[in-house]
Amino acid sequence: MAVEKVMVIGAGQMGAGIAQVFAQSGFQVKLNDIAEESLQKGLATIEKHLSRNVEKGRMDEADKTNTLNNLETTTSLNEANDCDLVIEAVVENMDVKTKVFQQLDQITPKHAILASNTSSLPITDIAAVTERPEQVIGMHFMNPVPVMKLVEVIRAIQTSDETYQTIAETAEKLNKTAVEVNDYPGFAANRVLMPMINEAVYAVFEGVAEPEAIDEVMKLGMNHPMGPLQLADFIGLDTCLYIMEVLHEGFGDSKYRPCPLLRKYVNAGWLGKKSGRGFYVYE
Ligand code: NAI
Repeated sequence: MAVEKVMVIGAGQMGAGIAQVFAQSGFQVKLNDIAEESLQKGLATIEKHLSRNVEKGRMDEADKTNTLNNLETTTSLNEANDCDLVIEAVVENMDVKTKVFQQLDQITPKHAILASNTSSLPITDIAAVTERPEQVIGMHFMNPVPVMKLVEVIRAIQTSDETYQTIAETAEKLNKTAVEVNDYPGFAANRVLMPMINEAVYAVFEGVAEPEAIDEVMKLGMNHPMGPLQLADFIGLDTCLYIMEVLHEGFGDSKYRPCPLLRKYVNAGWLGKKSGRGFYVYE
């Protein structure tokens, strides 16, 4: 199946970025949100990114106009009735996501693929609430979406080979690289990343070294572009804690226990860059 018409649900940080890359790659995109205000904010962010691309010579004015012409916004989910692919990027809440998938199952054409950008919820469980579980898949984009090359494609136990193939080909058209992963807690990206971040927090907790020193070791010694504690601040310490809890509960293994210092920071409201303070202080 060739994907042409796409709906992106949720115009937040991720949804706006996902809508932008699809529109930039020539797909017809409808960006949906329950809040008109979020749609306007999402669209403004997209326009800002496109203008910056033009200024830096990464695209010309015609590309920008074409991209914006490929995009429309709507608060009505019913407009997914002619879409080949829907990518859900609403808040990370299972009840909200399952309701959206049940509605989409009724609204979209029979051939449509329903994808979720969830970073931690089980795709298998989301697929199970629909009558087309073999056409449900995880399409996990990285933040910021227009910049990052990876799409972690997560196969639920029910996902068909045909669905996977279509999504892998679609990712390629977005100039991204699809990596196939099975549906287990944290998938692959967060399964590897979050325990590393948690271990870095343990190193601070146990007085092994200061945050700056740990980040310096990982940057200069391991060639990581950013240290784990700075990265944790950017992701949000609440998100890091939440994903560690998903891993801990999902595997029942104490190696995934969240560091008490991480929990303390979150309880203090020190959530990282977005709150002005995490392992570092932000102006
Ligand atoms: P966000 O909070 O920036 O945006 C969520 C948007 O969804 C809001 O605009 C909200 O109005 C809208 N929304 C809520 N319920 C809705 C509904 N029923 N129908 C339509 N729209 C609805 O969240 P963000 O950061 O964009 O995350 C979205 C998803 O992407 C989550 O599942 C998250 O786990 C995942 N994700 C986030 C990453 C990140 O770095 N922020 C990275 C990779 C995945």
